[in-house]
Amino acid sequence: MLIIHSPEEMRVASRRLSTSGKKTTFVPTMGYLHEGHLSLLRAGRKAGDILVLSIFVNPLQFGEGEDLDVYPRDMARDLELARSCGVDIVFTPSENDLYPEGFGTWVEVEGLTETLCGLSRPGHFRGVTTVVNKLFNLVQPDMAFFGQKDFQQLAVIRRMVSDLNLGVEIMGMPIVREPDGLAMSSRNVYLDQNERRQALALVESIHLARAMYKEGELRSEEVLYRVRARIDMESSARIDYARICHMDTLDNMGLITEESVLLLAVYVGKVRLIDNHRLGLEL
Ligand code: PAJ
Repeated sequence: MLIIHSPEEMRVASRRLSTSGKKTTFVPTMGYLHEGHLSLLRAGRKAGDILVLSIFVNPLQFGEGEDLDVYPRDMARDLELARSCGVDIVFTPSENDLYPEGFGTWVEVEGLTETLCGLSRPGHFRGVTTVVNKLFNLVQPDMAFFGQKDFQQLAVIRRMVSDLNLGVEIMGMPIVREPDGLAMSSRNVYLDQNERRQALALVESIHLARAMYKEGELRSEEVLYRVRARIDMESSARIDYARICHMDTLDNMGLITEESVLLLAVYVGKVRLIDNHRLGLEL
């Protein structure tokens, strides 16, 4: 496994790979890898010849007062896990390498970013799209793997790739959960024992919503009322949003269809958790 720090070196490696006709698959992450990330790596391993993983905690996508300084990191463990998944290249640039003095170019997707997480985390998505664009330029992947856990991020990246003709095939992979149902996240380590238990309200409210939909309830408001009530039962939980949206446009839907997704963002204590579920699909 090759570990590359310098963007220039990454560019040289990817140029060499593309001329040799190898198919490159790519998994961008901020590290502190868990089973969710590993599921993307395994899918990437199967789909191509050369698997590239990036590990970079991207300061551009953190707002003021967010957790950039305390974001969990463990490079030694990440490298070991990467090796076990058959990663060929780990690209882990420094902040100064990607954003040298004078950096001033942004990639911004309109529309899709102006709702949901875009409202509570201003500037977050332009940080994501800018770094993903840079990473795509350096890695030159044929295919890139993202988790449906970050449902809006996936929609925004698909939009960017299409709008800018980036020519990267974007694969959206299912949410990986803990045995008790909590969606895996690097941020789950921030939860204390009590909060960890209360965090199950997200997945339990999803179960409730799904049961109502299966029994024929199509009115979003009725379903969202029960979802909110379930989450509000937890003393440390505060809902940022709970909405039922169209899976592509992210517009609110009054009536639930096969194309609806329930999207949740909830603070449990100080930790902001997100989860979602396509209501027509099995959990
Ligand atoms: P990060 O939070 O490290 O996530 C990296 C990838 O792993 C994302 O595509 C995310 O959706 C996926 N992922 C996280 N938890 C998952 C889970 N429980 N199941 C399945 N997939 C999961 O998302 C980012 O980093 C950054 O915004 C990034 C795209 C790397 C840009 O900086």
